[in-house]
Formats: sequence, C-alpha cells, structure tokens
Amino acid sequence: MQNSGWILVTGGAGYIGAHTCVALLEAGHQVLVFDSLVNGSTEALARASALGGGEIAFVQGDVRDRAALDALFARYPVSAVLHLAGVKAVGESVRQPLHYYEVNVSGSLSLLQAMDAAGVHTLVFSSSATVYGAPVRLPIDEQAALGPSNPYGRSKLMVEDQLRDLCAAQPHWRVAILRYFNPVGAHPSGQLGEDPHGTPDNLMPFVSQVAVGRRPELAVFGNDYPTPDGTGVRDYLHVCDLAAGHVAALKALPAQGGLLTVNLGTGRGHSVLDVVRAFEAASGQTVPLRFAPRRPGDIAACWADPSRAEQLLGWRAECDLDAMCRDVWRWQRGNPQGYR
Ligand code: UD1
Repeated sequence: MQNSGWILVTGGAGYIGAHTCVALLEAGHQVLVFDSLVNGSTEALARASALGGGEIAFVQGDVRDRAALDALFARYPVSAVLHLAGVKAVGESVRQPLHYYEVNVSGSLSLLQAMDAAGVHTLVFSSSATVYGAPVRLPIDEQAALGPSNPYGRSKLMVEDQLRDLCAAQPHWRVAILRYFNPVGAHPSGQLGEDPHGTPDNLMPFVSQVAVGRRPELAVFGNDYPTPDGTGVRDYLHVCDLAAGHVAALKALPAQGGLLTVNLGTGRGHSVLDVVRAFEAASGQTVPLRFAPRRPGDIAACWADPSRAEQLLGWRAECDLDAMCRDVWRWQRGNPQGYR
C-alpha cells in the first residue's frame, strides 16, 4: 500500500520516533523526519529505514524555528504530522520550567501555525498520562480529572488545551491526542532502543544498565506504598505497541474532522519488583537493588483504561512485560553504549 503525501514525524530520530518510523514504513507510508538531534540520532534513523524497508527523508531542525518549518512544508507535500518532538524529563522541567514551556508549548504553537499556513490540518500529538492528576480511581480513563504536578506535565496539558480550542474553533482540523503511559522495550531485532544520555531517570533503562554492568545497583524509590509489594505500580507499554498506536490513530482520524483523545497503555499494572524479577528472568543476570526513600512527586499506582483506544482506533497492546524485558535486554546487550 502506498498512501499519498508525506507523513512528517517531528522527533522521529528519538526513541519513540524511530520505532514509529518503522511502523509507518511497514504500513506503506512515505516518512519525513524533522529532528533537532538534541536527543535523537541519525544512526537510529538509518536503522529504522533498514528495518522498515524504505527510505526516510530527514531534515535537521527545531520546531521552534518557524522559517525552517515553512521551508519544509514548501518542499514536501505533507499529508499529516506526528508531533513527537519535545523535552520530557520531569526533574529537569522543575529546574528549567521556561525551557520546557518554550520547547514544548512554543514549539507546538510554531508547528501548528506552520501547518495551518501550509494547509495541513491532520495531527497526531504525543501527550502523556502525566496530564492526569493523582488518580482518584484506577484504571484511569480519559474522563479522569486533569492536573499535572510538574512543568513537564503542564506543558503537555497546555498543548492539549491549544488543540482542544483549535478543533472547537476550526472543525476542519483532525487531531488525535495520545496519552502514553510508560513506554519501554525495544525493537525485537535488537537494532533500536532507548539511548538515554547520562544517568537514566526512568526505571527500565536503569535496570538494564545495572544488568549489563554499567551501574552497580538499582535504588528502588519507596517500598511503603499501598501496593501489593509496597513498590510503585505502573502501566508499562512496549514501544512497538506504542508505535502501532500512532499508525492506528492516523488511520482512524475522523474523515469529517474533529478531535480524539485516547490513552495508550496495556491496562495492567506492574510493580518495580515485578519489573526487576521479569528483567532478571529475561536476561539471566542478577539486578542488585536497595530500598531508598520515595522519589518526590511519585504516585503509588497508575494504569490505563485502554478501552477507548480499542473502540476508536481498533488498537490494543499485544506485548507483555516479559517481551518488553527480553527486547530491552537484546538491545542493551548488543548496544551497551547505545548508538555511540
Ligand atoms: C516518569 C515521569 C512521567 C513520564 C514517564 C515517561 C516522573 C515523576 N514521571 O513516569 O512524567 O511521562 O516517566 O516514561 O518522573 N523507580 C525506581 N528507581 C529508579 C527509577 C524509577 O524505583 O531508579 C520507580 C519509580 O519510583 C516508579 C517506577 O519506578 O514507581 C517507574 O518510574 P519511571 O520509569 O521514572 O516512570 P514514572 O515515574 O511513572
């Protein structure tokens, strides 16, 4: 199948972006990536192109650069945009809020204006389960109250608000807001994966670096939560399932215009100790750990009600935690220093 027009993926050289490019190529789309390379890699793009069996056109640039976007839209007939570019570290967002609002909020605004000027009105936006406040009940559905607790989360919510206002005012826009739960995993080939710079903030990359011997032990942040084993519970989602969710959203965007907002998660929660045990089983390595105080801002438990994604997109997550760990381990073992 060959669809007409380019699919522009901002942030396509990053972790989720590169997996999404593979899924788009496999679905027969023509893929164009716009990425600043601040947190992405051209090696990831080369590998995504080989895995997806197609070329990926690449333009280096920053979404805040309106002139660069205008030039890109003038050169390529783009039919839809997947907007994944952004900054995403919660702790850093607390220290540098203006940077987060500038990149995530101003960057999205600049992209929306450039799209409008170019007559491109189809968008899939990477949002996060972080936009929900502390959950009142589980699982979390899309009607749950919004109330992020840090600048990163608020920057995502501000973009969602822009999109809701835009779609209300101009119904020819077709927008999908995807609220990701906890993306982990790697391409099953072992060729693509998460390549965090410096010390990983998130659990899965930290665990895999301990397993491969790059770090001595995992600090488990809190073992006194009201969860079955006292450690935090999250909805971990395989990045290939997440990538498929983008392709499904693109396909499902209502032909008549409008906005869809869906959770992308598995609907299952796993504790930190579940993840460690699954990773040990997948890797055959021991993951030494110690219990440390709770991380400020963390919640006890969070998992998705993914039923709306199934209804509206025909999408559901296929991979379980064992598959996520197996694929992370294959990537980590084959690429101990990431793409470098
Ligand atoms: C974090 C972000 C969230 C973001 C998501 C992206 C925070 C508070 N939230 O979610 O906004 O969308 O990443 O994937 O940072 N843990 C440890 N030791 C570690 C690291 C984590 O015990 O070294 C625990 C955490 O306390 C938590 C679980 O592992 O219970 C998952 O943590 P993490 O991977 O950072 O994800 P979230 O905090 O859910």
